[in-house]
Amino acid sequence: MPRIAPRIAGDEALDEAFAILRDGGLVAVPTETVYGLASRADSDEAVAAIYRAKGRPLFNPLIVHVANFAAAQRLAETDERAEALAAKLWPGPLTMVLPLRAGASIVPAVTAGLATVALRCPAHPLMRALLECCPFPLAAPSANRSGAISPTEPAHVAASLGSTVPLILDGGACATGLESTIVALRGECQWQILRPGPIERERIVAILGAGNEILEPASAIEAPGQLTSHYAPAKPLRLDAEEAAPDEFLIGFGAIGGQVTLSAAGDVGEAASRLYRCLHEADASPLARIAVAPVPEGGIGAAINDRLRRAAA
Ligand code: TXA
Ligand code: MG
Repeated sequence: MPRIAPRIAGDEALDEAFAILRDGGLVAVPTETVYGLASRADSDEAVAAIYRAKGRPLFNPLIVHVANFAAAQRLAETDERAEALAAKLWPGPLTMVLPLRAGASIVPAVTAGLATVALRCPAHPLMRALLECCPFPLAAPSANRSGAISPTEPAHVAASLGSTVPLILDGGACATGLESTIVALRGECQWQILRPGPIERERIVAILGAGNEILEPASAIEAPGQLTSHYAPAKPLRLDAEEAAPDEFLIGFGAIGGQVTLSAAGDVGEAASRLYRCLHEADASPLARIAVAPVPEGGIGAAINDRLRRAAA
């Protein structure tokens, strides 16, 4: 059977995107981190469609996207810590896990039945414009089949999800390129990073203080996106490669060249924005295996190496 390709359109399709979402459908949306697969978060059927399209296990909760902190306050119990994080880092690539507010307009499937909800206020102008139109919150995981490489361009979404998503809002290539940092606020003062990302730990420490940080790794049940094997290409992947074997597609960095490079200049920010693009290209190449040059840990390098280790596991 011929597969109908999804429609890819820019800001001229905002009204159409809103109408699809309002009626309980799915739209792929641009954010500064990766493309998301959005549905309204207050409808069982709409949220079920996300899990179905992604092949996502029902125990893995979704991030809810909001236009501003006031919208977050309607969905979660917020305190001064949440307010301080939002004031400094929203809109931007930070997700906060907070206690779910009683009576919030979010169906249980969004949080996979947890008593907490993950909230994010994205910075991408097209996504912000969409959120401004929507009187309902938007659930949106990354717009890829579960466990596969995250999409940073509309073509990646189309290749992974095909006609299960009717419309992809085209906001160009994602500027940051790595999923948001997830921080959970616990009890009165404790906090924990559940997923490293573009907002470095040091910036969160500067706001929340180091003393109350929980340093043990997050439990697998709570953040399944942190399972050891995730973000994975279909091929075996070797890390810290200085050179390529004949059957390897080498992704370079700095002085180590390759078929493609994360950043010839050795810039970790550029490397983050190109990581998933390079992995998609490597996966599509005729070579059987993938090798990646070493990337330094500093700054966003920590989050790049987190994703690379999971992709290699
Ligand atoms: O940058 C991003 O965060 C992107 C864009 C689209 O916003 N979204 C994204 O969503 O990466 P997703 O579904 O691929 O990853 C969400 C992660 C998962 O690891 C999930 O387990 C975790 O967030 N999560 C969601 N709700 C949670 C909760 N209540 N408690 C703990 N972890 C939660
Ligand atoms: Mg994901």
